[in-house]
Amino acid sequence: MRCYFAPMEGLTDSIYRRLHHKYFPGLDRYYTPFFSPTMHRKLTNREERELPIADALDFTVIPQVLTKVPEDLLWFAAVCKDRGYNELNINLGCPSGTVTAKGKGSGMLADPDQLDRFLDCVFSKATLPISVKTRLGFTDPREFIQLLEIYNQYPICELTIHPRVRKQFYNGAVEIELFDHAVQNSKNPLCYNGNLCSLQDISSFEKKYPTVGAVMLGRALIADPGMVCGGTKIDTLEQFHNELLETYTEVFGNARNAMFRMKENWRHLLCNFEESDKLGKRLRKTTDISEYKAITQEIFHTLPLRKMLLADW
Ligand SMILES: Cc1cc2nc3c(=O)[nH]c(=O)nc-3n(C[C@H](O)[C@H](O)[C@H](O)COP(=O)(O)O)c2cc1C
Repeated sequence: MRCYFAPMEGLTDSIYRRLHHKYFPGLDRYYTPFFSPTMHRKLTNREERELPIADALDFTVIPQVLTKVPEDLLWFAAVCKDRGYNELNINLGCPSGTVTAKGKGSGMLADPDQLDRFLDCVFSKATLPISVKTRLGFTDPREFIQLLEIYNQYPICELTIHPRVRKQFYNGAVEIELFDHAVQNSKNPLCYNGNLCSLQDISSFEKKYPTVGAVMLGRALIADPGMVCGGTKIDTLEQFHNELLETYTEVFGNARNAMFRMKENWRHLLCNFEESDKLGKRLRKTTDISEYKAITQEIFHTLPLRKMLLADW
């Protein structure tokens, strides 16, 4: 079973991916958070940093794109190909109101005919393999039956399914019956994404779905970055954290912004630690970098890791 790191805007940027691979090597792929190409046909400095030349990396990265304009996607695909990437992933899942209001992300699932025309144009001209990350639908999970018929008409190199609809965002139960429908009826290879929280979850999934080749993990890997790579040792986690903070400080030119960036990781990391309520509260409140460093040190050195993480993989 291949394991991928999910794209996560504000979390899995290029710095995070490089350092994650340094401290926890072994994942099959990393997906970038989405790029939104515009008619200006030029990468910004930040986008250039987020899309490093693929040959400079010793791990596999798949760029993700969010657009409803086929020409913008095709331009971005050509840029990715030039920079050495071998695949482009289309985001058909983003639930954010500002994205769906423009008919993008999971907003594209609300108009299957337009989605069909979009994919037709993309697949007739694409110069590199295209994968798709989708939800089950916009409002009703049963929309997926028709959506899968559309996906089946195109050579999607991998179809990642997050079995929720837009209004669920990332919460509530996943509709596994409709994933089962995909397993039985998809003409394209599948990847599963959603609520896999532990190695046990992955191994049960693998037993239940032996024909599905890949799983994509998001929040659980931010919380437990070594989960599928030999386990998360506290010393390694601390070194990973410290080098992330240092690198963000250099790149942002500002330790406070680096600290706010790291606090996004702590939303997930904190649940690794027993009895983290008090220090977690102080961590969320502080706006002072020295205090932030002291609190994180105290967390790493005094709080016990939850048993799940200490298990001998
Ligand atoms: C903060 C955050 C940012 C995300 N950014 C993206 C994104 O850029 N592209 C995307 O396809 N999904 C994005 N997702 C969704 C994740 O890729 C994934 O589908 C979701 O977290 C469910 O998987 P999980 O249960 O393993 O966490 C994001 C999710 C979160 C929580």
